[in-house]
Amino acid sequence: MELGGGNVEAPGRGPRVLVVGGGIAGLGAAQRLCSHPAFPHLRVLEATARAGGRICSERSFGGVVEIGAHWIHGPSQGNPVFQLAAKYGLLGDKELSEENQLIETGGHVGLPSVSYTSSGGTVSLELVAEMGRLFYSVIDQTREFLRGTEAPVPSVGEYLKKEISQHMASWTEGEETKKLKLAILNNFFNVECCVSGTHSMDLVALAPFGEYTVLPGLDCTFPGGYQGLTNHILASLPQDVMVFNKPVKMIHWNGSFQEAESPGETFPVLVECEDGGCFPAHHVVLTVPLGFLKEHLDTFFEPPLPTEKAEAIRKIGFGTNNKVFLEFEEPFWEPGCQHIQVVWEDTSPLETVAPALQDAWVKKLIGFIILPSFESAHVLCGFIAGLESEFMETLSDEEVLLSLTRVLRQVTGNPQLPAPKRVLRSRWHSAPYTRGSYSYVAVGSTGDDIDLLAQPLPVDKEKAQLQVLFAGEATHRTFYSTTHGALLSGWREADRLIALQDPQAQQPGPKL
Ligand SMILES: Cc1cc2nc3c(=O)[nH]c(=O)nc-3n(C[C@H](O)[C@H](O)[C@H](O)COP(=O)(O)OP(=O)(O)OC[C@H]3O[C@@H](n4cnc5c(N)ncnc54)[C@H](O)[C@@H]3O)c2cc1C
Ligand SMILES: *[C@@H]1O[C@H](CO)[C@@H](O)[C@H](O)[C@H]1NC(C)=O
Repeated sequence: MELGGGNVEAPGRGPRVLVVGGGIAGLGAAQRLCSHPAFPHLRVLEATARAGGRICSERSFGGVVEIGAHWIHGPSQGNPVFQLAAKYGLLGDKELSEENQLIETGGHVGLPSVSYTSSGGTVSLELVAEMGRLFYSVIDQTREFLRGTEAPVPSVGEYLKKEISQHMASWTEGEETKKLKLAILNNFFNVECCVSGTHSMDLVALAPFGEYTVLPGLDCTFPGGYQGLTNHILASLPQDVMVFNKPVKMIHWNGSFQEAESPGETFPVLVECEDGGCFPAHHVVLTVPLGFLKEHLDTFFEPPLPTEKAEAIRKIGFGTNNKVFLEFEEPFWEPGCQHIQVVWEDTSPLETVAPALQDAWVKKLIGFIILPSFESAHVLCGFIAGLESEFMETLSDEEVLLSLTRVLRQVTGNPQLPAPKRVLRSRWHSAPYTRGSYSYVAVGSTGDDIDLLAQPLPVDKEKAQLQVLFAGEATHRTFYSTTHGALLSGWREADRLIALQDPQAQQPGPKL
C-alpha cells in the first residue's frame, strides 16, 4: 500500500494516532481506525476512569438509570446508533419493529398523562394538548427561516413569544383561563430549554434552528442501559488501546517533536497530559466536549487556534440539562401514568424574569417521566435546564430532596405525601471534563460555525496534513447534541485519516 499525503512516518508502521476522549465519538473513531490495516498504532486517552462520556448508565434502585443520554432519537435505518444497537442485540422487539421505525414525531415531546398545577389542581389534558399544538406549530414554522425568508427576530424564544402574543388576541376565554394557558406554554418553553440544553430559548438562534434534523422513529431507550452500546464498542478494541485516567492538558501542534525511542522520527503534534506524560503523534482526533474546550480555550492549544476557529468555539452554545431521579416507597400516580407535568400558575413566557435561584429554582423543573423498567422500585425522572439546573448542582442531596418533596406536596395537594426514599441526580455542569450537557446554535452563530469547528488543523493545506482533527457531538451540523451526531462525527474524522493514508480507497460512507 502506498502511503500518501506527504506523511513522515516510517513505512510499514503506520502513523501514530491519538484519540482524546473516550465517549461515543472517540470510541467510534477508534473502532473505525482499528479495523483498517494502516492504523496499528492507536491510543485513546480518556480523562476519567470509564468509557462512554455522556453515555453513562448506573445501576440504581434495583435497575439501570441513565445519568446522561436517555433515548435513541429517531430510531430508524438512517440512525447509526440504532443500527449499531440492533447489531449488538441491545434492543427489544418493540424498539426494532418496523412500526416503531416509521412513526414521525417531528421531534416533539409527547403530552403528559397528568398535569398538576402549583395550587394543587390538575389541568385538563385537552387544554394542555391545545397549547402543545400551538407551541409546536410555531416551532415547526422556524424551518422557513433556514433558507430564503429572513428571520424577523434573532432568537427562537423571541419568535415564539411574538407568535404566541398574536394568537392570544383570538383567545376568548376569561382572564383565569388565559393565565393558565400562558402558564402551560411556559412549561413548554422550559421543556424546549431541556431539549436544546439552554437556559433560555432567547439564547437559541432562530435562522439556523431548522438545520437540526429529526429522523423518523419513535424515540426508544436501551432496556439494559445506553452504556451497553459504548461498552460493546470498547470491547471490540484491542487490549492496549484505551488509556484511562489520562486527562490531556495541552496540545502542541505545528511542531517537530521527537522521542528517545524513535530516533530520527519527527512528529508534528505532542499531547501533554495533566500527569506530565507526553505522547508524540502524527494525528490527534480531539473529541472533548465543547464545554471543556470553552473553559480551556486559552491554554489548551499551543500555538493558539486560528482566530476564526476560536471564535466558533466561543460562539456556539453549550448549556445544561440535568436529571433528578426520585424513588418512592409507593407510587402516588395512577397505574399506566407515564409523564407528570408541573404547571406553575404564576408564570408566563411573555414576562422576562431574572433566573430565580435560591427559593424558586424548582419552577424550572418541567415535571417527571415515570421510569417503566423497574420491577419493585417506583422511580420518577425529572428534567431541569439552565441556570436553575446549574444552581441545583450546588445543593446537597438533602436540600434537593426537601425542595422537591415540598413541590410534590404542593402540586398534588397532599401535604402528607411521603417523601421520596432516595434522590440521585446528574451534575453535568460541574463535571470537569464536560462542563454542561450539549451544544446548541446560539444567537450570533450559525451552522457555519459548527463546520468551522469541525475543520482540521492546520488550515494551511501545504503543511503536514491533519494534525488535529475535531469530532464530538458539537461538530455535527445537523445532528448536534445527539449520540448519533457524535458517532457520525467520529466516523467522519476516522474516514478523513483513512483517506489520507489510502487516497485510492473508496471513501466509505457512514456504514457499519
Ligand atoms: C443529561 C443528558 C441527556 C442526554 N440525552 C440524550 C438523548 O436522550 N439522546 C441523545 O442522542 N443524546 C443525548 N444526550 C447527548 C449525548 O449524550 C451526547 O451528545 C454524546 O454522548 C456526546 O458524545 P461525545 O463523544 O461527543 O462526547 P462525550 O461523551 O462527552 O465524550 C467526551 C470524552 O472526553 C473526555 N475528556 C474530556 N476532556 C478530556 C481531556 N482533557 N483529556 C482526555 N479526555 C477528556 C470525557 O471524559 C469524555 O469521556 C444527552 C446528554 C446529557 C448530558
Ligand atoms: C507554524 O510554524 C511555522 C514555522 O515552522 C510558522 O511560520 C507558522 O506561523 C506556524 N503556524 C502557526 C499557526 O503558529
